[in-house]
Amino acid sequence: MLVPSLLVATGLTAYSVAAIRASSSSQIVLPRPTGHYNVGRTASVELIDYSRIQPFAPEIEPVKLGISLFYPVLTRQYTTPTAYFPAEVAAFEDITLSGKGLQSPNGTFERLALSLASDEACRDARHRPAVEFPLAIFMPGEGTTRLWYSQIASTIASNGYIVVAIDPPYNVDVVEYPDGSLAFLNSTLWGSLDPAVLLPTAYVGIESQVQDVRFVLDQLSNVTLAHTLVPNLPPSGLNTTTTAMFGHSLGGSTAYSISEQDSRILGGLDMDGGLFGPGNGTNKPFMIMASANHTRDPNGDYTQVSWAETWPNITGWRRHVMVAVSISLTTQFETFADHPGSYQEALHYDFSDYPIVFETLGITPGSTVASSENGTLTGTLEGHRALQIVTTYVTAFLDLIILGKRSALLDGPAIGFPEVTFEY
Ligand SMILES: *[C@@H]1O[C@H](CO)[C@@H](O)[C@H](O)[C@H]1NC(C)=O
Ligand SMILES: *[C@@H]1O[C@H](CO)[C@@H](O)[C@H](O)[C@H]1NC(C)=O
Ligand SMILES: *[C@@H]1O[C@H](CO)[C@@H](O)[C@H](O)[C@H]1NC(C)=O
Ligand SMILES: *[C@@H]1O[C@H](CO)[C@@H](O)[C@H](O)[C@H]1NC(C)=O
Ligand SMILES: *[C@@H]1O[C@H](CO)[C@@H](O)[C@H](O)[C@H]1NC(C)=O
Ligand SMILES: *[C@@H]1O[C@H](CO)[C@@H](O)[C@H](O)[C@H]1NC(C)=O
Ligand SMILES: *[C@@H]1O[C@H](CO)[C@@H](O)[C@H](O)[C@H]1NC(C)=O
Ligand SMILES: *[C@@H]1O[C@H](CO)[C@@H](O)[C@H](O)[C@H]1NC(C)=O
Repeated sequence: MLVPSLLVATGLTAYSVAAIRASSSSQIVLPRPTGHYNVGRTASVELIDYSRIQPFAPEIEPVKLGISLFYPVLTRQYTTPTAYFPAEVAAFEDITLSGKGLQSPNGTFERLALSLASDEACRDARHRPAVEFPLAIFMPGEGTTRLWYSQIASTIASNGYIVVAIDPPYNVDVVEYPDGSLAFLNSTLWGSLDPAVLLPTAYVGIESQVQDVRFVLDQLSNVTLAHTLVPNLPPSGLNTTTTAMFGHSLGGSTAYSISEQDSRILGGLDMDGGLFGPGNGTNKPFMIMASANHTRDPNGDYTQVSWAETWPNITGWRRHVMVAVSISLTTQFETFADHPGSYQEALHYDFSDYPIVFETLGITPGSTVASSENGTLTGTLEGHRALQIVTTYVTAFLDLIILGKRSALLDGPAIGFPEVTFEY
């Protein structure tokens, strides 16, 4: 419990940084990010907003956000295996994913590593002339730590973005702070199956996450702090006034709500999240990437109903794509010559690293576990393909919104991506 006087001090910020300890056991390494750049990571930073109280904490405390930054590195040096999770989180996720029916005995995720530039290479890299990479903001889904999106974030960083991933504590399963302390999901509120509890919880959660993002942008505009968190920035630091947000599930809902409220966010991308939060609409660019059959059906599930209601109020450039296709309908696409008669569909967690991680570890769940409501919610797409689809479309979106670079990918079906269908 905090001394109350701390809570009235507004504008007071604290931050601390830690490295994720390297795991000792034999590592299994995720693919190197596919973009033009190597990628460095500042793994674990805590930013504390003393001006607000965390709504779903078990005790009164200020908002303590866990963040990671992924940034492009100009170095020729080879990548090095870098622990995906800190040890305690890895052990926690072994148990969490076992609970979803995955074969992930103790020790499974501790072995997982990202393929990143070494800390030494990041420090030594020189950007001459200084390259100003744009900033993109990411928030994860409810119940799922930001760390579960590290391969997606790395890949987008390798395409030339500085990605800041933000964990809202008590809304995600676990946040480990640089001092090793942990904050767990508020399972009382989020575990409820009663819509009368869940929808108001989601509303307050999104409202709070909007403030979290705004706070992080305020902090990252501090040039001194920015230079501490990302090596080799230009003297102006991070560009926090020309940015965009993408998010999965509740993180995507947050991208919608913040679009209306914050002029620094030029547009938002929602990966399969219901639009349950505050907001009357937006005239900024907004995109939905949906899982299979997630249309805007006003008689569908909560998410579909929220999309149906919100869609008319998204008045600027907008897109709604679905990641699912029946091969029988798309025989014209030669990509599918290898997969005759198959049905490629994304489920909710294909917008996370689950598929690429399971594929890399060789623990891809059977279809019963994958598609069960309490299972991993991963579909029939192969892991590397799910990753490629998500990161290609997110990058195309960021390129359009932040850099003004148009891509035919966002205008309609593309031969290289037959799994992506347009609900416009
Ligand atoms: C959930 O949040 C409420 C406050 O909204 C708090 O009273 C309760 O202790 C929290 N429960 C858990 C398990 O964190
Ligand atoms: C796995 O770890 C958990 C907690 O760390 C422990 O309770 C459990 O007994 C372990 N399971 C096995 C099979 O070792
Ligand atoms: C900017 O960040 C530095 C380093 O964390 C800190 O010392 C300084 O107080 C911050 N400035 C403002 C205005 O918050
Ligand atoms: C941020 O980027 C925009 C667009 O490129 C530019 O106009 C602005 O000056 C940049 N701001 C900073 C602080 O670099
Ligand atoms: C939505 O509109 C209502 C009524 O005009 C207004 O009170 C509210 O502040 C708006 N919400 C946001 C997030 O701007
Ligand atoms: C859409 O906008 C109208 C008026 O601008 C507002 O009354 C309505 O609540 C909004 N609906 C949603 C779902 O945002
Ligand atoms: C989507 O619809 C197709 C065709 O009706 C069906 O085969 C498939 O099981 C559905 N998938 C989901 C996740 O609802
Ligand atoms: C999923 O979990 C909920 C809540 O624990 C339970 O009510 C439901 O029966 C479970 N569904 C399956 C298919 O196991």
